[in-house]
Amino acid sequence: MLQKLTLPLPDDFHIHLRQGNDLANYAKRAAEQFGRVLAMPNTEPPIDSAEAAKQYKKEILAAAPNLDVLLTFKLSKNYTEQELLEMQKNGVVAAKYYPFGVTTNSQDGVSQIEDIYPTITLIEKLDLVLSLHGEEPDAFCLDREREFLKHLEKLSKEFPNLRIVLEHVSTAEAVKCIAGLPQNIAATITVHHLILTLDDVIGASLKQQNFCKPLPNSPRDREAVRQAAFSGNKKFFLGTDSAPHSLEKKECLGGAAGIYSAPVAIPILIEEFEKENKLDLLPNFIAGFGADFYKIPRQTEAVEYIKTEWQVPKTMDGAVPLRAGETLKWQK
Ligand code: DOR
Ligand code: ZN
Repeated sequence: MLQKLTLPLPDDFHIHLRQGNDLANYAKRAAEQFGRVLAMPNTEPPIDSAEAAKQYKKEILAAAPNLDVLLTFKLSKNYTEQELLEMQKNGVVAAKYYPFGVTTNSQDGVSQIEDIYPTITLIEKLDLVLSLHGEEPDAFCLDREREFLKHLEKLSKEFPNLRIVLEHVSTAEAVKCIAGLPQNIAATITVHHLILTLDDVIGASLKQQNFCKPLPNSPRDREAVRQAAFSGNKKFFLGTDSAPHSLEKKECLGGAAGIYSAPVAIPILIEEFEKENKLDLLPNFIAGFGADFYKIPRQTEAVEYIKTEWQVPKTMDGAVPLRAGETLKWQK
């Protein structure tokens, strides 16, 4: 039986590191698990300028000096080419699109994607990546991603050279859509969408800790996401969407959406890939396809994991991690 596993140092192409007092803990925790991360811009205030990006990177590196930090900016308005170039110089590799009101800190999101087509034209020209929170705000909650796919198909036609990532893909229809679009269209897969369905949020009792956007969907959808992850198709790679909120902000009236998965992501992935007999495909999923898509060098460092059971703490950094209190099989 396999007792040791050597993997390339993982990349996380979608993580929330927040701001203020929480940032240092979340950044350190991310650096324990990942060599490189793409940090999302829905901080308060948002990352929406070169100055903000520069400052944010500085704060992350102060806490986690060895973390390779890639940045995104928030597409809440149109930007000039000069502004985009300045951001690009400061480590920004992607523009993050949030539709209005669909998730945490998206009150400044965009109502009509066509309103920001001028900026998308520049994003394509500068070869930045367009990163999409793909949910249609007014649709029924379990159909929001499916209803968004028409916008993705339209973007792909109108901007044929634009690299687009549909973040946290969560439905069978979206997996099929991504697989059928050209090679410049990819998707990230989270750990939680590989293991949860809506039953894990509201099926037996209300489990606020598993509440996130897009919602974990049906067993059929989860199966499609799993098959995409285990397919070896280079269009699908890891972006955890690890999104910590304090226990108080999760377990209250109007609790926040987001799952804190960074501390447990890789151990859970090893377990899931092992279960499916697909461990040979894990290196590319966590440290290959994403880097290739973003046109950056692959990681060369390696990390060793050992099979030793451990119990996930009930809280970490003031938040409840995914699978809190449960036993995992692998650790670093
Ligand atoms: O569940 C989520 N939480 N989904 C997102 O898209 C954002 C994230 C957050 O920032 O908390
Ligand atoms: Zn996110």
